Amino acid sequence: MPSIDTARLRLRMFTAEDLDDLSDLFADPDVMRYVGNGLPVTRQEAQVALASILKHWERHGFGRWVVTEKTTGQFLGFGGLRSLVETPELVYHLHKRYWGQGFATELARGCLAYGFEQHGFDRIVAIAKPGNAASLRVMQKAGMHYAMHTNYYGIDVVQYAISREEFLQIT
Ligand SMILES: CC(C)(COP(=O)(O)OP(=O)(O)OC[C@H]1O[C@@H](n2cnc3c(N)ncnc32)[C@H](O)[C@@H]1OP(=O)(O)O)[C@@H](O)C(=O)NCCC(=O)NCCS
Repeated sequence: MPSIDTARLRLRMFTAEDLDDLSDLFADPDVMRYVGNGLPVTRQEAQVALASILKHWERHGFGRWVVTEKTTGQFLGFGGLRSLVETPELVYHLHKRYWGQGFATELARGCLAYGFEQHGFDRIVAIAKPGNAASLRVMQKAGMHYAMHTNYYGIDVVQYAISREEFLQIT
């Protein structure tokens, strides 16, 4: 499975040893505020999520990576692409101490490039709850545009999108 390097980040595959870091990330109420039901996730649920991430790679050939700082190997969070109703969806979750340094935008651009250039996807989407201003801003800074307000699995979200043609125009 591939790893991706951006200017400051290395996106690498998850292993079972990443469970502690993933659990810590999911235990932070501020990180989870706009994710799922908005509540922190237990270690057991984090374990299920990790298994699901690994399964997704096997099933789809793309997925979510551990996001590390390239020079130190420090765990910053995770992000990448997952299948949302058969459409690739960009996702990102970072530890609070790393917010506001452009890491999510850098990660988003790297993942879009990976999706369009390595997988030949026609379109990539991203969704966020309407109140998640930081996430919506990351989508905009990555070159995505508003597509619609919609609902997935009972949760109201704003959906952004970008086509391969649009991505090629901005890179
Ligand atoms: C969303 C998230 C990944 C952003 O990470 P980040 O590395 O801080 O993002 P960036 O630094 O690349 O960009 C954030 C942008 O949002 C802006 N922003 C942050 N909080 C904001 C707020 N409350 N209102 C408006 N804009 C906000 C920042 O100013 C920045 O924009 P700018 O560069 O124009 O100033 C991070 O906040 C996170 O992990 N949140 C918890 C998990 C989550 O919600 N993930 C997304 C689920 S859809």
